[in-house]
Amino acid sequence: MSFTPVASLKGKSVCAASQFDRTDIDALIELARAMKAHIESGQTIHALDGRVMTPLFYEDSSRTLSSFCAAMLRLGGQVVNFKVEGSSVNKGETLEDTVRTLDSYSDVLVLRHPKVEALAQATSVAQHPVMNAGNGSGEHPTQALLDTLTISAELGRVDGITIALIGDLKMGRTVHSLLKLLTHNFSLAKVYLVAPAGLEMPQEVLDAVAADLTQKHIALEQVHALSPAIVADCDVLYATRLQKERFPAAAAGADPVAAFQKAKEDILINKARLESAKEKMIVMHPLPRVDELSTDIDSDPRAAYFRQMKYGLFMRMAILYSVLA
Ligand code: ASP
Ligand code: CP
Repeated sequence: MSFTPVASLKGKSVCAASQFDRTDIDALIELARAMKAHIESGQTIHALDGRVMTPLFYEDSSRTLSSFCAAMLRLGGQVVNFKVEGSSVNKGETLEDTVRTLDSYSDVLVLRHPKVEALAQATSVAQHPVMNAGNGSGEHPTQALLDTLTISAELGRVDGITIALIGDLKMGRTVHSLLKLLTHNFSLAKVYLVAPAGLEMPQEVLDAVAADLTQKHIALEQVHALSPAIVADCDVLYATRLQKERFPAAAAGADPVAAFQKAKEDILINKARLESAKEKMIVMHPLPRVDELSTDIDSDPRAAYFRQMKYGLFMRMAILYSVLA
């Protein structure tokens, strides 16, 4: 079976949500779904035989690292087992030199780093495409693509939905990318931004989406608590955890962290909170969850977060295939 790559991605780095248009997204979703059907029917793919990917993860990960690696392997490619711990990063090697080194052994790099600016530093020296697997509190564009695939596959549409982004919207990079990707490419009905005081969506992200909201008549409401009326109105509840590693140690226990703890009751998603939800809606979370999403809804068919992480494998297969094929 041959798959059609998304031609506009060939040889390109994946840096930000803004680089994707509706045609790219629709094609990526179609490709990811075709790859899912193929793999789930027990077949294999050898499209990237002989190609090499190196993940450079300067921050912890369970899903993004492993799903990128599994995606490369399932396409027939190979993965270099580079670990920041135990590397010459500990001898003081700069990010640029580490990127130059691994880039010289690879066809594609996958970078996760706690600093927003690390991505630009890496792409300025890499000769091969770099996949942004999360740059600090900046963006997580492949997560937004897999989130969009999840909504499309689970609800059968993305246009016309009402979605609530909930939690630490200030430091959460997944919601920055997702808000940009969705508002720029889909005619949403309404977006609720539900964040504890001090953890609201950054103004620069709001500025980036303002023109699309106006042009597409997408309603936007910012609140501090997830009321039954909001839950009842939503097709998607997208929960996120407090990004506590992004707050300086000195601030631990201080403002934003304390605010989140205090506000947890207002944003917690659990069985009781879903009482006012529609029959056909989904609860999403990029994971890992901490205590903002209760395990008491895990067996509710509307809990889509474990399916969401699985869609990540197929979306990353579609991305790597399109970049490298
Ligand atoms: N895993 C996601 C990220 O790396 C969300 C999170 O960690 O809360 O951005
Ligand atoms: N969703 C996500 O990025 O998960 P990890 O941090 O575990 O990679």
